[in-house]
Amino acid sequence: MSPEMIKRPIGKSGIEASVVGLGTWAIGGWMWGGTDESQSIAAIQTSIDEGVSLIDTAPAYGQGLSETIVGKAIKDRRDQVVLATKCGLIWHAQKGNHFFDYDGHPVHRHLGKDSIIYEVEQSLSRLGTDYIDLYITHWQDPTTPVSETMEALLDLKQQGKIRAIGASNLSVDELKAYAAHGSLDAIQEEYSMVKRDIETSLLPICAAHDISTLSYSSLALGLLSGKMGPEREFTGDDQRKDNPRFSLANREKVARLMDAVVAPIAAEHQATKAQIVIAWTLQQPGITFALCGARNPDQARENAKAGRLRLSSGEIDAIGAATKTYLIDLDS
Ligand SMILES: NC(=O)c1ccc[n+]([C@@H]2O[C@H](COP(=O)([O-])OP(=O)(O)OC[C@H]3O[C@@H](n4cnc5c(N)ncnc54)[C@H](OP(=O)(O)O)[C@@H]3O)[C@@H](O)[C@H]2O)c1
Repeated sequence: MSPEMIKRPIGKSGIEASVVGLGTWAIGGWMWGGTDESQSIAAIQTSIDEGVSLIDTAPAYGQGLSETIVGKAIKDRRDQVVLATKCGLIWHAQKGNHFFDYDGHPVHRHLGKDSIIYEVEQSLSRLGTDYIDLYITHWQDPTTPVSETMEALLDLKQQGKIRAIGASNLSVDELKAYAAHGSLDAIQEEYSMVKRDIETSLLPICAAHDISTLSYSSLALGLLSGKMGPEREFTGDDQRKDNPRFSLANREKVARLMDAVVAPIAAEHQATKAQIVIAWTLQQPGITFALCGARNPDQARENAKAGRLRLSSGEIDAIGAATKTYLIDLDS
């Protein structure tokens, strides 16, 4: 293990951040069966103690709760954090495309200029800061031209309210439309050992335009944590309850991969299985940062330490080949 967290630049922004980023969706509680504020704050602070600078949140994570908790946790440590948050999933107006209901209230995908300008102020206030390092359009809005969205984001950048621009959950055409403006620093997309489709769609475009990639659900919602045994049950609104990815058959497939290939490599590096999974993700071509959710200090510490690991090319190849043997059809 290297003595320090590895860092990489975010696109052309001039900002550097830790390769492991703390994801705070579960910290908002929504779709994760609730949250515990003191454990969440401890998880965030432990991440920073362990060298994680990149912290990712969004207004939609518990309708402001995740941002509020992040704000409390980083109150005296703002300068140690590269803060990423998002816009475009709104509940203050019914504009754009209806996406889902939250507690009976409609949430729309909307990236109009006025809405973004409203949203950024809400986020700054909840986060207790006067700037956001990386501001990301959360889901794309087919009713607003990308040129209008970019105009709003560039204005905010000029005002110093945001320092870099990102976009998430993109089609190839949407990415090309953003890239045409030349000011996109990062994308954020689902990527892990069980979900690799962006390797042949978005990642080559990012490489051509010097756009960084933040992988999300890097541990496949915890399935790849090395601890997802058959006994684990999900309660409340935890999205994993009805997700076929978490079937007992799939948990077994993952356990076989872990035992056969990941565990020996972990032993070699005196690391855990989750750390090898994260390190493998970070060494895939085009993946710049791996966002990993953590709900308590132990998870935060374990995930952060993966940002100091370097696997050999032989180890990377062995894991890559094994995913093709063991991790087939997990989402069916
Ligand atoms: N842009 C988007 O649309 C989008 C979508 C999804 C996620 N994201 C971002 O990406 C971040 C990461 O993805 P994610 O949170 O969805 O999934 P993830 O990182 O794959 O999984 C997170 C969950 O796995 C479990 N876990 C994490 N580390 C562990 C460890 N060391 N040992 C055991 N269990 C562990 C925890 O849940 P339990 O303890 O409950 O098992 C944790 O909440 C999010 O938090 C969010 O910031 C963005």
